[in-house]
Amino acid sequence: MAELENSNVRLFFAVVPDSTLRARIAAAAEPLPLESEARLVPRTNYHMTLAFVGEVAPSQVPLLRQIGGAQRTAAFSLRADAYEYWPKPEVIVAAARTIPIELEQLWRQLHRDLAGHRWALDPKRLRPHVTLARKVSQAPVLQAMSPFDWLVRDFSLMRSDTSGIQSAYTVVDTWPLLYDTEKT
Ligand code: 2AM
Repeated sequence: MAELENSNVRLFFAVVPDSTLRARIAAAAEPLPLESEARLVPRTNYHMTLAFVGEVAPSQVPLLRQIGGAQRTAAFSLRADAYEYWPKPEVIVAAARTIPIELEQLWRQLHRDLAGHRWALDPKRLRPHVTLARKVSQAPVLQAMSPFDWLVRDFSLMRSDTSGIQSAYTVVDTWPLLYDTEKT
């Protein structure tokens, strides 16, 4: 047990949908044409990654919580409006082609704060998306996607456990974004 507690944890910052939105995302994933090897992401795993931190020692978790808790960005709405196939990670995602300024700010500040603590992260460019399917080795013919809107009111530090067939994610901590009345 002590050994487990001391082993590294794989962490990332992300926005996590509520159950209503999960159902909408699942509806967007449902018509995807998938070959036999491909796998739909289970709806409990839907998320929009803000910053992938990777493996860290448990002793680093308080610092990551401090960074999450220091963010001061306003809540925002995001529209996911297109399927995209990304050949390198072999995924199909629901992408947001328009990036809200608040999301850009949150993403930039998080990366800046993480870099200040020697976490130099990839990717360099913000591409807001929810991964819908993995192990998609052949480029599929993708239709237009029915858009869905996402009101983002908070974000989380997530732990990823990759030991099983499917990754399992758990929330380590969550922080609210600011509403209009709190911005001053
Ligand atoms: P994605 O599905 O949103 O692209 C947890 O591991 C999540 O972090 C993954 O679902 C993936 O998010 C993202 N991720 C994993 N490895 C990554 C890497 N090397 N660089 C950037 N993001 C990564």
